[in-house]
Amino acid sequence: MDNLLLHPFLFLYQLFQWIADKLLSPTPPPPNSKLSRPRIAIIGAGITGVSSAAHCIGHGFDVQLFEKEGRDGLGGIWSRVNNTSGLQIHSMMYRFHPSVQWARGYPNKEQIVEQVTELWKRYGLDSRTTFNTSVDKVTQDSEGRWIVNSESNGKFDGIIAAVGTCGDPSTPRINNQQAFKGEVYHSSQLTGKEAKGKKVVIIGGGASAVEALEFATNSHAEHTTILARSDKWIIPRNPIVNVLLSFNIFGQETFLSFIPEFLLRKFFYRDLSDLAPTDKGIFEGTPMVNSDIFDLIRSGDAEWLRGDILSFTENGLKFNQRAKGVPKRGPGKTVNVDADIVILATGFDRPSLSFLPSETFEAPYGPPNWYLQTFPPQHPSVCATNCTYINAIGSVGNWHIGIYTRILLMFLLDPMTRPRPWWTKCWIDMTRLLKHFSPTGAFDFFTYLELVWWFVFCVAINPFRWKWALFVFFGIGREGPVGVVEVEDRVREKLGLTNGVKGRDEGMGI
Ligand SMILES: Cc1cc2nc3c(=O)[nH]c(=O)nc-3n(C[C@H](O)[C@H](O)[C@H](O)COP(=O)(O)OP(=O)(O)OC[C@H]3O[C@@H](n4cnc5c(N)ncnc54)[C@H](O)[C@@H]3O)c2cc1C
Ligand SMILES: NC(=O)c1ccc[n+]([C@@H]2O[C@H](COP(=O)([O-])OP(=O)(O)OC[C@H]3O[C@@H](n4cnc5c(N)ncnc54)[C@H](OP(=O)(O)O)[C@@H]3O)[C@@H](O)[C@H]2O)c1
Repeated sequence: MDNLLLHPFLFLYQLFQWIADKLLSPTPPPPNSKLSRPRIAIIGAGITGVSSAAHCIGHGFDVQLFEKEGRDGLGGIWSRVNNTSGLQIHSMMYRFHPSVQWARGYPNKEQIVEQVTELWKRYGLDSRTTFNTSVDKVTQDSEGRWIVNSESNGKFDGIIAAVGTCGDPSTPRINNQQAFKGEVYHSSQLTGKEAKGKKVVIIGGGASAVEALEFATNSHAEHTTILARSDKWIIPRNPIVNVLLSFNIFGQETFLSFIPEFLLRKFFYRDLSDLAPTDKGIFEGTPMVNSDIFDLIRSGDAEWLRGDILSFTENGLKFNQRAKGVPKRGPGKTVNVDADIVILATGFDRPSLSFLPSETFEAPYGPPNWYLQTFPPQHPSVCATNCTYINAIGSVGNWHIGIYTRILLMFLLDPMTRPRPWWTKCWIDMTRLLKHFSPTGAFDFFTYLELVWWFVFCVAINPFRWKWALFVFFGIGREGPVGVVEVEDRVREKLGLTNGVKGRDEGMGI
């Protein structure tokens, strides 16, 4: 308590989290209680899968989680990164379930895995998780119920794909690697490694490169060089700035984008504005969030070079250093960069969604061009949360996980809310039209406020969804709409309107 009184902001944050939990966390069912249909299969036990499962269970619906890794893979990508990894954004934007309680603003890997594990236990998901099971295919029976891998796993009314975007470490083949006398590691495999007094070279210019730079600095490396083949925006580690940027409701570059870009160059990049991209705007790619990197470059402890890796040498790397504006593999100056350690901050392979039916990938409505980016037009009973996005300004672990889960539950419980493929395609085309002038594809970049607009539109456009609004947005008041749906079902049955509609995967509404 002393500690909290000395830190009033932390105290208010804790109070906010306590209130959010009390108001918005669905109550976990008692152990061994019988849960009702719809029954949902959730693929992946990272923050998205566990949070989605906790929401379903909390509202009384049965789930089964399938995770390809063993028990130590609970937490997804966070279970596999460095012990020193942590959030780059403020944890206020990473409250992936209302009951999550962060003890500090920027939790590390251990605290994140701890919160996922606690959530998993609190909602009794330990008895509903099948580990060491990779989902390779999902098929449907004649009634539209889903079979995951084989019938021995049971049948499901809905599917949540939560396989994430960071699979196995991506390690590109670089010419002549066998000649290099030093050490080579992927950026996610730095636990226990030492860089004291060594020359570190980092390949890649994304968030993992920034994290590798932190590792090198904290280990007192002699010098660190980042070799980046393209320029990305870097924004300060400041929740107000981060939230303000995510408030661009258009979800794309607009004529006003020059304002944040100018402010960032002038007050954040300052003398290093050469590093700010000129070929892409701030609302075209996921920015990196870091406030220390420019100080490290100014102090001479780190260097940021733009260009292409040519090959390894005995003592480091041969590099084609390009001037600003020269495209990848364009002309430049060949330089030798000395290294004792090379860190490949070259990202992760994207986990495959190919277990889903093949029609969900048909152009021009393949992922991420799906309804609300997550529902394939042909299958309103499938929701692929947090695994179809490409670039965004927002957060992976926030309120939207619950909202997507509850939209899926609404679709499964109330046939009149379930959209027909024709209408979902209309929405996708409308969004494409609205973002016609975006330099990226309509769904290749979005902001958090744009996501909120999608949700509001989804609920507002269909009057049968209005009764679900409180449930969809806040997870409260489920009994009311469920009662109304029972009456509607009886009326439709009397009118003979249910003929020909099979299962919970067939859309009836707009
Ligand atoms: C070091 C690091 C730091 C990050 N920091 C941030 C941050 O600050 N803010 C932010 O918003 N994001 C951050 N991210 C992105 C991160 O990916 C997300 O925040 C989030 O953890 C993703 O969770 P997820 O559950 O969607 O996916 P994952 O954590 O990747 O979990 C997916 C799970 O699905 C399993 N799986 C995959 N395919 C199958 C299959 N076919 N069958 C069964 N199981 C399968 C995987 O084994 C995995 O356990 C960070 C990523 C890294 C690597
Ligand atoms: N704490 C955090 O918040 C944190 C930390 C790490 C990761 N993450 C998240 O995890 C995800 C992955 O991030 P990431 O940084 O690992 O991957 P990333 O964003 O995909 O960046 C990979 C970088 O490596 C470069 N690259 C790839 N292959 C290369 C090659 N053969 N030669 C030279 N350069 C190459 C890429 O260049 P191009 O851009 O030109 O392709 C890019 O700069 C992101 O969602 C990120 O936000 C977050």
